[in-house]
Amino acid sequence: MNLIIQEAKQTYINTFKNEPILVFSPGRINIIGEHTDYNGGFVFPAAVDLGIVVAIGKSNTNKSNAIALDINSNITFDLNNLKPSKEASWVNYVFGVIAELQKEKKHLDNFNIVVKGNIPAGSGMSSSAALENGFVFGLNELFSLGLSKTEMIFISQKAEHNFVGVKCGIMDQYASMFGVKNNVLLLDCKTIKAKSYEIDFKNHQFVLINTNVKHSLADSAYNDRRAACEKVAKLLNVTTLREVTEKDLQKIEAVITPENYQKALYVIQEIERTQKAAKAIENNDLEELGKLIYASHNGLQNQYKVSCKELDFLVDHAKKDNNVLGARMMGGGFGGCTINLIENNGTAPFIATISKAYKKEFNKDCTVYFVKLATGTHLVE
Ligand code: GLA
Repeated sequence: MNLIIQEAKQTYINTFKNEPILVFSPGRINIIGEHTDYNGGFVFPAAVDLGIVVAIGKSNTNKSNAIALDINSNITFDLNNLKPSKEASWVNYVFGVIAELQKEKKHLDNFNIVVKGNIPAGSGMSSSAALENGFVFGLNELFSLGLSKTEMIFISQKAEHNFVGVKCGIMDQYASMFGVKNNVLLLDCKTIKAKSYEIDFKNHQFVLINTNVKHSLADSAYNDRRAACEKVAKLLNVTTLREVTEKDLQKIEAVITPENYQKALYVIQEIERTQKAAKAIENNDLEELGKLIYASHNGLQNQYKVSCKELDFLVDHAKKDNNVLGARMMGGGFGGCTINLIENNGTAPFIATISKAYKKEFNKDCTVYFVKLATGTHLVE
């Protein structure tokens, strides 16, 4: 992490000739509770030790500048004339945050930022939320906007809805902003209150395996899923599927499509699984936790239909290994990582076999990550 901080800072100083404020904003993993956040349900994420550094300071010209070091992209813009960019899509997260702050009548002057990250692109560890949060946090410091962390995550989320066009829930922004070292957060997305659970399994760990694929149309498929859930909720006269049970859903089975029935059923069941997962962690019952994780994947694959052949292959392969207690796709889906709960001693042989099998099947490499659970968005002193 120190390396990316140094690089962002040095580039900032060399380019803009003054000292920046430095913010580190982490990515996240999610143990279980997928596609439940925008349904008012529970999620179980944690911030990780990979993330994005934002170096930010005031500009003494009448323009603002943004540099993304990872992709070598450099943009100069006018705060009062922001339009979504087709060429540099990353900048839409920045513009989106500015636009939302302007809607809230927060006064911004011109600024410069340099962004540098180490979250693998397309891994489903939420580099977008890390960037939005890091940026809004930096602006809040720089211009003394007086925003609370909760207000900031909603600015980040709205930026993504309105400028990027993904109608995401609040999980990623919450986990990235409020992460607690060594803890996972059971977040109730209805009340936006979380309970933290320290993770110190003696003989097991979470390991991520990246398929290294990101299928196009993932964003529109995401928005379609959300719209389908909202449609079912409306028919049931509730605002979110969190409010209903399987029994309630059965009552309208005849008037919705079988596809939407399965999607809503998945959501209701996944919300329940997430609460059970918290109990399993409390009881140190990792076998049970693993079963819930496998069941989550099954629902995402067959009911909610947001998986893909590469993710399914990794999960099916994990099932053959007794050292793996649970595995599932993580995040929005259609690519990115699986999260695997593995016995420590079995981890190396499992990785060796699965990497080989993946290469043979898809003629490409998967990538393995070991992450630590880390603190949320913060200033770097
Ligand atoms: C993406 C969204 C989140 C959440 C997950 C699926 O990461 O940004 O809000 O909906 O997908 O659980």
